[in-house]
Amino acid sequence: MPMKQMVLIFMMFIAGCPSLERSETSTAKPREVLIVYTGNLLAELKPCGCSQEEDQGGIERRMQYLKDIRREHPHILLVDTGDHFKEPTRQGKLKAETLLTATEQMEYDAVALGDRDLLYGSKFLKDRTQIPWIAGNLMIDHFEPARSRVKIFPNGLKVGILAVADPGLFYGHISLSIEDPKQTVLNLITPMRETEKPDLIVLLTHAKRESALNYLNLEGVDIVINGHMDTDSDDIDMAPVRKDGRLFVQSSPRGQKMGELRVQIDADGNKSFKHNLVKLDSSVKFDSEMVKLYEQYNEKVEAIFFETLAGKRNKSKQSVYAGETVCKTCHPAEHSVWSGSGHGRAYDTLRKINKAFDPECLVCHVVGFNIPGGFISELDTPGLKNVQCEICHGPGRDHASSPESGFGNQATEACKQCHVKNHSPRFNYAKYWPRIKH
Ligand code: HEC
Ligand code: HEC
Ligand code: HEC
Ligand code: HEC
Repeated sequence: MPMKQMVLIFMMFIAGCPSLERSETSTAKPREVLIVYTGNLLAELKPCGCSQEEDQGGIERRMQYLKDIRREHPHILLVDTGDHFKEPTRQGKLKAETLLTATEQMEYDAVALGDRDLLYGSKFLKDRTQIPWIAGNLMIDHFEPARSRVKIFPNGLKVGILAVADPGLFYGHISLSIEDPKQTVLNLITPMRETEKPDLIVLLTHAKRESALNYLNLEGVDIVINGHMDTDSDDIDMAPVRKDGRLFVQSSPRGQKMGELRVQIDADGNKSFKHNLVKLDSSVKFDSEMVKLYEQYNEKVEAIFFETLAGKRNKSKQSVYAGETVCKTCHPAEHSVWSGSGHGRAYDTLRKINKAFDPECLVCHVVGFNIPGGFISELDTPGLKNVQCEICHGPGRDHASSPESGFGNQATEACKQCHVKNHSPRFNYAKYWPRIKH
């Protein structure tokens, strides 16, 4: 079924299966909880802003969204399906710490663990005692997240939450043993239904979509919320799936969209679901607390940048790059087109938004960042700012001292280094080249 149709169907209320419990008279109004879910955050604190389409998500907008929705709705269950972290680097860890602080302040009800969440070890997670971690089938050394959780709402509704991860995603992890996820759900669900008697059971799964869909067959589970990404540019099929009155939904990539699942339960225990995805785009304001938190992160990134400069200076030798001012002497026409293009001011773009020290941005906005002889800092290498000639044509010091034709004609191949999906989703050589043709 085409996705559009699928989504339309789920926009309507769908009647679910009646539960065995009938505690109230059938004239009572149905009670409602709003499940709000995220996942696959991959340490993305703030979208880079390289393209409008991808300018979604980030902690500043997420917090504002949560404050707004909590004012509107008294019964919210906020959950995450895992995969918070990305790079095993110093900056990656700094982002991870900032993200967990944001997560604490957002007051989640349950946060599941994915394969990327053990990147910095279990202590890193354990120390965040305010985060309601949940993992049904992961036996982690020195860390015991809850196996299940139950939340009781002021309207009396009781929601049971379970979480399991697919063992296949955890190859190579030490200090961890993993139990069979399906058996774990069955082992947890039976006592939960007997003692807690929840009105609704939500299962958070961390698995590939195809295998997570199987959890829809598990007796007792009402809703499956799945997350997992192999790479940060994976396309994720976000279409909800309904089966026998149960519902499967999927967390969006990199926190770009908030999942909203409105569940109504009538006096006879009949459930109906209404699903919606909310884009965290520029129509959502920035929450001021999170703006401050992000600024603190940014200051630490800047401090690391200056701290590492000395080491880079020592390593710098005769550069393979000549720099655009040298090219200009013999190719003034090409130079004047270039300097009027976006490539000619790509560094300024970063400086204007206080990002001209962030390695995660500089790689694509200057010449040869992290390459010997390449950009170090504006002070050290003022001639290597911006997306210059030599990024596309290749290092040209030799060419500049003894010019010959045929130099740098591999340039058409260079674009895809930087015009990648998450930063330039509309890139198309035939459309882009004419805009910088020289
Ligand atoms: C993988 C390469 C890459 C990385 C990394 C990258 N950018 Fe970009 N950036 C681009 C490309 C390519 C464009 C142009 C996109 C287009 O027009 O299709 C761009 C455009 C932009 C623009 C819009 C410029 C304008 O005025 O149109 C901003 C702002 C920006 N980047 C900021 C950042 C920041 C901040 C970071 C780091 C957090 C960053 N970029 C990291 C490649 C990158
Ligand atoms: C001293 C003058 C001089 C400098 C400096 C110079 N070039 Fe050239 N460049 C030439 C000449 C001459 C040719 C050959 C033109 C021809 O015969 O078609 C050439 C050819 C090229 C070509 C290939 C054009 C073709 O027709 O095959 C490219 C691309 C190029 N230069 C880029 C650069 C870049 C980038 C820089 C700076 C790193 C640079 N040049 C610096 C003089 C120069
Ligand atoms: C974003 C990548 C990029 C940048 C930056 C860039 N060029 Fe080019 N340049 C190209 C491409 C692509 C071509 C066309 C190659 C083709 O069509 O075969 C080209 C063509 C040329 C040619 C003509 C080559 C020919 O075969 O006729 C020259 C000369 C040249 N560039 C010089 C420069 C100089 C000088 C600069 C810096 C001031 C510069 N370029 C910046 C990508 C770039
Ligand atoms: C080193 C990374 C990098 C490479 C390689 C690169 N670009 Fe870009 N490109 C950028 C960035 C960064 C921007 C955004 C610049 C800004 O406005 O700050 C950009 C912007 C653009 C724009 C919009 C700006 C304008 O002036 O219209 C076009 C078009 C473009 N690139 C085409 C190309 C083409 C074609 C190639 C390959 C021949 C290429 N780029 C290679 C990084 C790159």
